[in-house]
Amino acid sequence: MRSPSAKRWKALTARAPAIVLGPMAGWDMRFFDNAGFEPVASESDAWNRGKYIVDGGGHCAACHSPRNALGAEVASAYLQGGNISDWYAPDLTPNPHVGLGGSSAQDIATYLKTGTDGVAVAAGPMAEAVEHSLQYLTDEDALAVGTYLTALSASDTPAPKAASLAETDMARLADVYEVNCSACHGLDGEGIEDMVPAFSANHGLLGDPTNMIHAMLKGTRAPHTHAAQTAAGMPSFAWKMDDTQVAEILTYVRKSFGNGAEAVSPEAVGEMRDALDAR
Ligand code: HEC
Ligand code: HEC
Repeated sequence: MRSPSAKRWKALTARAPAIVLGPMAGWDMRFFDNAGFEPVASESDAWNRGKYIVDGGGHCAACHSPRNALGAEVASAYLQGGNISDWYAPDLTPNPHVGLGGSSAQDIATYLKTGTDGVAVAAGPMAEAVEHSLQYLTDEDALAVGTYLTALSASDTPAPKAASLAETDMARLADVYEVNCSACHGLDGEGIEDMVPAFSANHGLLGDPTNMIHAMLKGTRAPHTHAAQTAAGMPSFAWKMDDTQVAEILTYVRKSFGNGAEAVSPEAVGEMRDALDAR
């Protein structure tokens, strides 16, 4: 279900790409400081342009690379996922389990410009990055970023170990899901295209559970962009569910809809609840 405004915007931009102007319209190559960038001659122009944006003005690694104890980015795990206080910036390599394995360069470009690729919807700091700057990338630059990211070698993070839940718990949690989540996320975890993230085949949610817990305890809001004008919201469940209930429903989601990810512990929810003061 694509929102009518998104459709209208697509029709507009198809006819007149130059219409995409905003306060940060200069978010293209001209404004990056290109001192020190050495193009790799054996790679395509798009790849070089993508690398230049990712490593330069895009600051992607600032969030998406892990840091060592001294706060420096770990070069050997470049773009393989980083903790940024109470959010987690997922693995951007083509890892088939937790990264962008199933995504094409165009999927990534669409996500950067609209905040969604039809499966995931950007939340938290990524929603801000999209809303305030990435939506103003030119189509060509956004696609160049996708070209560069899809050409990275996949991280070797293994497939997660699926949580084990008794059948009776699964049946009970299916009811909890239907009552509390299905109106937006869909009975089959299909989400609402471009507005509410799907739970099936949404790999960004299957690794570190930080963002899932954060969304449950504080709610979040999707980015407001020219392409997606209805910034849909995720309500907080902090007042309604205790730590065990939040952990259980997230574990259910991570084990259903074709997913097989690790369980979320009530302790992890409790720590986040304290950190966010979410009561
Ligand atoms: C009123 C609609 C609505 C309901 C009800 C709802 N959600 Fe959401 N949810 C959303 C929207 C919209 C987003 C995307 C928000 C964003 O991108 O910031 C979202 C995002 C999420 C995310 C992903 C956050 C991320 O990192 O991208 C998780 C996990 C989640 N919801 C879990 C649940 C669970 C579990 C339930 C039921 C207990 C639930 N939601 C109920 C609308 C809803
Ligand atoms: C301020 C921190 C921050 C910056 C800077 C940032 N990201 Fe993100 N990114 C995140 C977070 C947090 C998420 C998870 C969003 C969610 O859960 O909905 C994310 C999600 C993503 C996703 C979706 C991953 C998935 O598996 O669904 C892509 C693609 C992405 N970022 C690409 C980029 C690129 C490319 C750049 C640089 C141009 C960038 N990000 C810059 C924090 C950041």
